Amino acid sequence: GGGGDGGDNQTEGSTGRLLTSTAELPEPGTVPLPVPPVLEPRSTDGGEDYYVITQRPGKMEILPGLTSDVWGYEGVFPGPTIVSRTGRRTVVEHRNELPVPVAVHLHGAKTAPQHDGYPTDLVLPAAGWDGGLPGGDVSEGSRVYEYPMDQPAATLWYHDHRMDFTGPQVYRGLAGFHIVHDDEEEALPLPRGERDVPLMICDRAFGENGELLYPALSSDLAGEPGVENRYMSGVLGDAILVNGAPWPYMEVAAVRYRLRLLNASNARRYDLALDPPPARGDAFTQVGSDGGLLGAPLGHEHIEIAPAERFDVVVDFSGYGAGDEVVLANRFGEGGTAEVMRFRVTGPAEDDSEIPPTLSDFRPLTRGEAGRTQRVRFAREARNPHGAGPNMWTINGEVFDPESDGIEVPEGSTEIWRVTTNVHHPVHLHLVRFQVLSRNGGDPGPYDAGWKDTVDLGSEEEAEIIATFSGEPGKYVYHCHNLEHEDMMMMANFRVV
Ligand code: C2O
Ligand code: CU
Repeated sequence: GGGGDGGDNQTEGSTGRLLTSTAELPEPGTVPLPVPPVLEPRSTDGGEDYYVITQRPGKMEILPGLTSDVWGYEGVFPGPTIVSRTGRRTVVEHRNELPVPVAVHLHGAKTAPQHDGYPTDLVLPAAGWDGGLPGGDVSEGSRVYEYPMDQPAATLWYHDHRMDFTGPQVYRGLAGFHIVHDDEEEALPLPRGERDVPLMICDRAFGENGELLYPALSSDLAGEPGVENRYMSGVLGDAILVNGAPWPYMEVAAVRYRLRLLNASNARRYDLALDPPPARGDAFTQVGSDGGLLGAPLGHEHIEIAPAERFDVVVDFSGYGAGDEVVLANRFGEGGTAEVMRFRVTGPAEDDSEIPPTLSDFRPLTRGEAGRTQRVRFAREARNPHGAGPNMWTINGEVFDPESDGIEVPEGSTEIWRVTTNVHHPVHLHLVRFQVLSRNGGDPGPYDAGWKDTVDLGSEEEAEIIATFSGEPGKYVYHCHNLEHEDMMMMANFRVV
């Protein structure tokens, strides 16, 4: 899909869809890039790593000289990075010291249903909660999430998933990286250590005193002018943050770096490019996608990335000279949003990294393996059967109902889902990794390679995705990862039986 076609509301337009900061924003390239700290386990006994994360309010200096109130994992945004190993159980106890219920989803993980952060399986505030509850398996104050890590090396992320409130809660800071390593990946000569850097890209808007601006919830605003447009697009901000810092800079030597790009924005899509482009070679060599390593490296001049997608890329700065400044640009943006961050090239250094021609033992799934094809349509319907109001975001004509059975999938079966959309929707399935078999009846697009858990579909597009549904029986969700669409109920169940 492209960025500016008709009906596409996820790139900024001219009609007030963009939230504009009233705070003074810094010049691009003046704030150093932070890298989220790696969380230490509380214990490593019994073949598992046990972590404790307290979700609490925090104060951060995001804009120079101003203080922003955030809701963070450990009080910080982004949250601390968890590093796991394939086959070794990771257990995370989440304590909720926020004033609202939360649910934690490890995005991209193969997780049993009770540990998947189902949107009504809420962890209530430790201080108590007398607000409403949508049903579900509720815990008070804390909840222990278990992750078997029965999956290969990949860049995962964890974020809030509370029903109807995921957009505002992630916007206030509830997102962090969870990186999985395995032997296959570690044997590769890719850049590592300080040259393997996770980059969480998201947009925000700030009030005068540095406070995060997010529109009040739609239910409070129903009928007010402009609200509909705002929610058509999802929430867009005018400041671009990387790892929580506005338009930061990173010093790099003139060598290869592995950059794990994550679009953690609520609604914004980016078209990332290097400016100037390198004198030789591709700007980005993709080595991995959402769900792990590609079979072989794939070159890109630019990368379109939708909310929740990850592109694991190598950038070779050896074509630049000492003192060069390289902008990571966003070709979908305008003005401030046309830039993401800067790399400042310090000078030559030793580099024993390489991009090998084979990265992993990647096996394409074939049509012949699939037992059944499901049709799934993501669209805005003028009316919906539950009477929840006109113009709801629906899947197959229905808004989210946690009690519905949804699509039943036999455990271990392989299915093709033919997904269609009306406007841009990044479509995400929990539990599984899938491959894109076709796009609009032709070959998959340049950003569809490898194991995906989110596929970005444009206006009136169609993709066939194929997945093997192996995992614990139970109820999981699939949904639009434009978080405002998700909160406007563009979510549905599937049930592994
Ligand atoms: Cu990243 Cu169901 O979400
Ligand atoms: Cu959507």
